[in-house]
Amino acid sequence: MKSLLRPVLFSAAVALAAPAFAQFAKPEDAYKYRASVMFLQSQHMGRINGQLKSDKPNLSVIAENAAILDTVNRLSFTAFPEGSDMVANSRAKPEIWKDPAKFKQYAERLNGDVAKLLAASKGGDLEGTRTSFQAVARTCKGCHDDFRRD
Ligand code: HEC
Repeated sequence: MKSLLRPVLFSAAVALAAPAFAQFAKPEDAYKYRASVMFLQSQHMGRINGQLKSDKPNLSVIAENAAILDTVNRLSFTAFPEGSDMVANSRAKPEIWKDPAKFKQYAERLNGDVAKLLAASKGGDLEGTRTSFQAVARTCKGCHDDFRRD
């Protein structure tokens, strides 16, 4: 039974891992993909911000949005193939490919910040939620300042 299942599990694992290795048919697709992901990121950041600004922030709503961010955050950075800053409307700076280590550092920092936001909101820690939300927003902005054209 085990040996019959293995190929099925293996192909499921490959399918799940696929976004990390995704090849885009054309640079325009990579741009569309990352812009869509970042649109989602900003929507869910906005919903969390809305809760934090309300009189009675709902931590479970924040945790739901943080869990979505925790997933989508991992997607946009698979969609920066070299040269895709030349696509119409793209604001990506060529520095992304000149200093890929720094770019990756921002991406990893974002994942770490969001993990903290998720843990704090799930754990009912409002102050920790506020602090980690600010850290997430700072990381978004830091990367945009360095790697996105105005
Ligand atoms: C690792 C760097 C990095 C991080 C971290 C990052 N971004 Fe971005 N973001 C970019 C770059 C580069 C672009 C420009 C992409 C392009 O135009 O090709 C961009 C574009 C965007 C856009 C515009 C999308 C469009 O329609 O063109 C939004 C909105 C956005 N980011 C939101 C966010 C939010 C919200 C976060 C944090 C949760 C975030 N980003 C974190 C690098 C980053």
